[in-house]
Amino acid sequence: MDRIRIVGGSPLNGIIPISGAKNAALPLMIASLLTPETLTLENVPRLADVNQLNRILGNHGVDYRLEGKRVGDSPYAGQTIHLDAKTIVDTTAPYELVSRMRASFWVIAPLLARMGEAKVSLPGGCAIGTRPVDLLLMVLEKLGANIEIEGGYVLADAKKGLVGGEIDFAKVTVGGTHTALMAASLAKGHTLIKNAACEPEVKDLADCLVKMGAKISGAGTSTIEIEGVTSLHGARHDVLPDRIEAGTYACAVAMTGGDVLLAGARADLLPLALDVLRQTGAQIDETAQGLRVSRKGGKIRPVDVTTAPFPGFPTDLQAQFMALMSGADGTSRITETIFENRFMHVQELARLGARIKLEGDVAIVEGRPKLKGAPVMATDLRASVSLVIAALAAEGETIVHRVYHLDRGFEQLEEKLQACGATVERLREPA
Ligand code: EPZ
Repeated sequence: MDRIRIVGGSPLNGIIPISGAKNAALPLMIASLLTPETLTLENVPRLADVNQLNRILGNHGVDYRLEGKRVGDSPYAGQTIHLDAKTIVDTTAPYELVSRMRASFWVIAPLLARMGEAKVSLPGGCAIGTRPVDLLLMVLEKLGANIEIEGGYVLADAKKGLVGGEIDFAKVTVGGTHTALMAASLAKGHTLIKNAACEPEVKDLADCLVKMGAKISGAGTSTIEIEGVTSLHGARHDVLPDRIEAGTYACAVAMTGGDVLLAGARADLLPLALDVLRQTGAQIDETAQGLRVSRKGGKIRPVDVTTAPFPGFPTDLQAQFMALMSGADGTSRITETIFENRFMHVQELARLGARIKLEGDVAIVEGRPKLKGAPVMATDLRASVSLVIAALAAEGETIVHRVYHLDRGFEQLEEKLQACGATVERLREPA
């Protein structure tokens, strides 16, 4: 397995282009199942999760075409992909595929809406918690589907088609809201979603569905209304920039010091996180090209944060912020409210010298003036990148093992950091 070697201690200076958002690209790709016409997505990041989802969609009969590079394209330009689900040949998503990527469970909504049936493996647990799908199944039942669970599979049936209904989420769920949007777009009649997720990726999916002919209003707020249509058509859509990637590099600069332009990053996608980073002593300016993040000397101030659904502090930035706080001048408290077990990075950060105590869903981080490099193990996507951030600021060499987690969600991580002066290299496993 590949490893990443980092020699820390240098500030980051330069430009980091921000890729298209993984968590927008995945549901957008899944939405291609809703139409027999071509869905073209631009600015799709080159990530292991995108490739894996292509394989899953291919199994249902989706043709996938990737546009080659054009003269003058930057190496960081996102990909353009054409997804064509003219004929759905298989409505089963097998365990071997779904178990590798949780978001692939969401294919259940378009398969059911378009074909009247779907058999999708339950995704199972993962490193950040149990992550049930009860709310996603509730959505489908509210829209008239019959749901049974057999042999580890969800069997969903709506032979006469889905019908609109009222969905009131007991808990804010991004995947639940994606499911409701896709299923209700092709359901008969009106659907009202209450307590919908307001994440920008939900709005991005809704915008694309509207381009495909769906009738949706209110996406991006907690109340969404959908008037079902009988069919959707092809469209072209640009994946929005990755706010978590932008926030990750902002945490890195706030920790190492330096001055970096996060090209293409948007402040409106990270409202609270940017305020929090400013409170730690980083300077963040909005420019026409993106967000400019700098910290020139001075200590990192400790700040308490609590994760919350958008526009709150994102759970997907919690680990990265904890890395930053482990170098702060004082103690901070980080409360995780979205996932019950998202502290796998704590033990690994400790290997770099961080002092973190866990009390239930709160991590108490006692900042240290210097972390020291060490061998560490990546456990999940965001935990892994928190180790990279800490290693960039630590004295000496860190080797990050199991970097395949990083490849799931960070495009050209080493190249982007190297371009800003970091000593980062991939140690490839001999073939
Ligand atoms: C999405 O996961 C993201 N994944 C996650 O990013 C992100 O952490 C999460 O939203 C929260 O923002 C993608 O977009 C591919 P949820 P999702 O449903 O949709 C509970 C990353 O690192 N819940 O909003 O699966 C659930 O257990 C990933 O990129 C139920 O109880 O998350 C959690 O506590 C990791 N029942 C809470 O809701 C359900 O049926 C929010 O989860 C569904 C969810």
